[in-house]
Amino acid sequence: MIIRKNAAELEKMRRSGLLVWEILRHLSSMIGEGVTTLDLEVAADKMIRDAGARPAFKGYYSAAAGTRYGFVLCTSVNDEIVHGMPSSKRALRSGDVVSIDTGVQLNGYFGDSAVTLPVGEVDAEVRRLLQVTEESLERAIDKVRPGNRLFDICSTVERYVVENGFSVVREFVGHGIGTQLHEEPQIPNYIDRRNENPRLKEGMVLAIEPMVNAGKADSRVLADKWTAVTRDGSRSAHFEHCVAVTANGPWVLTRP
Ligand code: MF3
Ligand code: CO
Repeated sequence: MIIRKNAAELEKMRRSGLLVWEILRHLSSMIGEGVTTLDLEVAADKMIRDAGARPAFKGYYSAAAGTRYGFVLCTSVNDEIVHGMPSSKRALRSGDVVSIDTGVQLNGYFGDSAVTLPVGEVDAEVRRLLQVTEESLERAIDKVRPGNRLFDICSTVERYVVENGFSVVREFVGHGIGTQLHEEPQIPNYIDRRNENPRLKEGMVLAIEPMVNAGKADSRVLADKWTAVTRDGSRSAHFEHCVAVTANGPWVLTRP
């Protein structure tokens, strides 16, 4: 069942969303050569606590991993797709890309967003990967309207990515969000005919998160049980926003 949120609930989700946006904005300003992914983690952890919120990812149990996640951020560098773990050993270098994904719970409601950033000078193909991934999200956001269907979102991401010569990751998906980090529906970045294709209705909130590889779609998970990487070693990008369905169209909760 897809849980719809009333106006008061959406206002709470808006506050969570804006906190996530502020965190990602601050972390973006920190990015540079020599900064470690643990530096980002420490800064985010402080901002979440100062806001009186709870980190959504830290302690999150994944049946697939069989463990609880240990950090407030996922920091996925270069060929890492998602769920990279912050580390004092991972200093960013010019030419890298880093995806920063974070979530918070504030007044009972979750917010969740991700952005992928270049470090220093990155080559033109990598810049194009970031642009295409972000644009696929923007095009999907535009489909978040009452009367459209879930597959309109999925197919919009897939078509734009494939048209541009990249591939969408199939093993990880977006999700509904509310009082749980992960609610129905699942939101693949491609059409999965095994899933239902519900009509979008006012009050639904969707975390849409394209994960796009420069090379082939195939992924694998490292021995740490969390870090997902591309099988072919190609670069990967990830952007995510939480979007509410309203009578006036899409309301992106995770940006002003
Ligand atoms: N944005 C991802 C998601 O919503 C990040 C989850 S990391 C985890 O699925 F640790 F919470 F699993
Ligand atoms: Co998410």
